[in-house]
Amino acid sequence: MSMIQRTIQVGFELRVYFTEGVFAPANPLLKEVLIREGDERVHKVLVVLDEALAQGRPELVQDIEAYFATASERLKLVCPPMIIEGGERTKNSYFHVSEIHSHIDRYHIDRHSYVIAVGGGALLDMAGLAASTAHRGVRHVRIPTTTLSQADSGVGVKNGINAFGKKNFIGTFTPPYAVVNDFEMLESLSPRDKRAGYVEAVKVALIRNKEFFEEIERDAKLLGEFEPKVMQHLIRRCAELHLNHIATSGDPFEFGSARPLDFGHWAAHKLEQLSEYKIRHGEAVAVGIALDVIYSRKMGLLEAPAAERILSLLETLGFELFANELLHVDSDHSLIILNGLEEFREHLGGELTITLLKGIGHGFEAHEMSLPKVVEAIHELQERHNERAKVYQVFG
Ligand SMILES: NC(=O)c1ccc[n+]([C@@H]2O[C@H](COP(=O)([O-])OP(=O)(O)OC[C@H]3O[C@@H](n4cnc5c(N)ncnc54)[C@H](O)[C@@H]3O)[C@@H](O)[C@H]2O)c1
Ligand SMILES: [Zn+2]
Repeated sequence: MSMIQRTIQVGFELRVYFTEGVFAPANPLLKEVLIREGDERVHKVLVVLDEALAQGRPELVQDIEAYFATASERLKLVCPPMIIEGGERTKNSYFHVSEIHSHIDRYHIDRHSYVIAVGGGALLDMAGLAASTAHRGVRHVRIPTTTLSQADSGVGVKNGINAFGKKNFIGTFTPPYAVVNDFEMLESLSPRDKRAGYVEAVKVALIRNKEFFEEIERDAKLLGEFEPKVMQHLIRRCAELHLNHIATSGDPFEFGSARPLDFGHWAAHKLEQLSEYKIRHGEAVAVGIALDVIYSRKMGLLEAPAAERILSLLETLGFELFANELLHVDSDHSLIILNGLEEFREHLGGELTITLLKGIGHGFEAHEMSLPKVVEAIHELQERHNERAKVYQVFG
């Protein structure tokens, strides 16, 4: 037997910029990101735009065209922005990925050109997959336009679409060339989508950083009113904690079995699918966190006052902590949501690894879950929900 072994090291710089009015003609940021000093070439640019965003900001297409016209000696917008449906539907087939591939081919987008995706987390996941697979990877710039994607999904290294009824079944780990968070983009978002992203901040605070949790508690009322400065602060801090994790955890491409940033996500992914994606990712994560918090308490891992504090913060932020889909059963009368555990394990392979809490700011990894206790936790969430509904009926 003989073997040749070499270590291949590849470094990535992950750059996340914060700005307002990214396509305003006087804003130099994006041009500076795309044009490297000393590089005299003309770079081609293909822009992919989330349809709901384009409808919410009718002037955006024109703004983008005008912006690139001001830098035409160095950046060439190859065609009008492609407008593609956003939301989970965009991830539920391969169709839009091939649509982008076909534009990359038609307009000769090469590995020194840019695919810029502007939209919510779902559109970015899908466009990122297209960009990272054409020519084995063209430069991809993300401009996230939802709270959730600015704070979490858009600043990470994962791309993907759903297949075989499973979230993110087809995907890649490819860090984007750059991310530009433009707070102005959030103005056209629905209250529902403004709120949904908050939960990823609560999540990262719960597993990593108690001070951040307390900050969110302090700001909860203003967050509920979507006060822009407070939202921006939450987004920036949440993005920073995610990036810290990706850069320092030692496993940015998830070769091991642990996914600490996916606290609350085993149930959430299944819930999204069971609701046929009517429940938003962030909304499903709120339920998933509530479930794992009650479970942690029932297992004697988390103290009752801490558990209650977490549940009431989620409620103050405006999240529902129960969904009827939690009670859906298959032909054997078993709760389908429980399959989420095995699907979660299978996505990475190896041992089941679920993040649970032993305190606010202290996540830890568990390798088994007691199914009867999970079921008890589901019923407790249902009772809590019914109690709240009664109070609401009485006091409006
Ligand atoms: N890659 C990752 O690491 C990662 C992490 C977390 C979540 N995700 C994925 O992100 C997706 C959820 O992303 P999301 O919460 O951003 O929701 P989303 O992308 O589904 O967007 C929600 C809705 O808002 C619309 N929209 C987007 N920006 C808008 C704007 N500025 N104005 C008006 N409408 C706008 C979209 O078209 C969509 O209808 C899920 O697919 C989830 O799995 C990925
Ligand atoms: Zn998430």
